[in-house]
Amino acid sequence: MRREPDEAGQAAGPGHVAIIMDGNGRWAQMRGRPRLFGHHAGARRVREIVEACPENGVKYLTIFAFSTENWKRTQVEVSGLMKLFQRYITKEARALSDVGVRVRFIGDRVRLNDKLVELMDNLEILTAHNDLVHLTIALNYGGRDEVARATKRLAQDVALGTLDPETIDEETLPRYLDTYVLPDPDLVIRTSGEARISNFLLWQSAYAEYEFIDTLWPDFTAEEFGRLARKYGARDRRFGAVKA
Ligand code: IPE
Ligand code: IPE
Ligand code: MG
Repeated sequence: MRREPDEAGQAAGPGHVAIIMDGNGRWAQMRGRPRLFGHHAGARRVREIVEACPENGVKYLTIFAFSTENWKRTQVEVSGLMKLFQRYITKEARALSDVGVRVRFIGDRVRLNDKLVELMDNLEILTAHNDLVHLTIALNYGGRDEVARATKRLAQDVALGTLDPETIDEETLPRYLDTYVLPDPDLVIRTSGEARISNFLLWQSAYAEYEFIDTLWPDFTAEEFGRLARKYGARDRRFGAVKA
C-alpha cells in the first residue's frame, strides 16, 4: 500500500528508521588512522541525523552502536568504544534533551560496566518527558540474545502461572522484547556496502524495507538520510497481500 500524503501534502515518511552504522573502521583505515578514530567520527554523525528526523517524518530512530558479537574485537577497540559511549552520553545528554529527543537503550546491560549503565539510566530519566524524536541506542544488543532473554522471562511467567501457554501468539513475545514500547521499523538502513543484518532487530524487521548503501557511516549525511526517506515514501508495501 502506497503511503497517503498527510494534511500538509507531504508523503508520509518512514515513522521508524533503524540504522546499522557500519564502516567506521574502514573510514579510519583509509586515512591511515586507528579504528577508534573512525568510531569517534561516527559518533559525531549521530546528532545531525537525529535532528533531521522530524522534517523527514521519522518519529523513531534506532541505531546499532555495539553488538553482542562486537566483544570479539581487540581489547583496545572494545575498551575504547566503552569509553566513547560514556563520553558520548555525558557530552550529548543535555543537547539531545534540549532538542526534544527521548533516549532509550536496548540490549543486555549485564555485561556493561556500572558507570556506563548509570549514565544510560540517567539519560533515559532525563529525557523521559520528550516526545519529538524517540532515539533508541542498541548497546550490547543482539537479536538472538534479545529473543532468548525474552523467552526466559516468558517461561518464568508460565512457571509462575501468570501466563497460560495456550494464549501465546504473535502478540505475546514482542511484549517481552527490549523494544516492547516501540513500533516495528519501517526502514532499515545499513551503511558501508555490506548486505547483511548482523543480528539486528530480527523479530521486529520481519516486514521492514531495507536500504544497503555504500557510504561509510562517518560520511553519512542528513541529505542522504532525506533521500532514503523520500525513496521509502514511493515504495509499495504489500505485507503479503495482493493490491486491490
Ligand atoms: C561499525 O563500524 C561500528 C561498530 C561495529 C562498533 P565498524 O567498526 O564495524 O567498521 P568496519 O566495518 O570495520 O569498517
Ligand atoms: C554490526 O556491524 C554492528 C554494529 C554496527 C554495531 P559489524 O561490523 O559488527 O557487523 P559484521 O561483523 O560486519 O557482520
Ligand atoms: Mg563493520
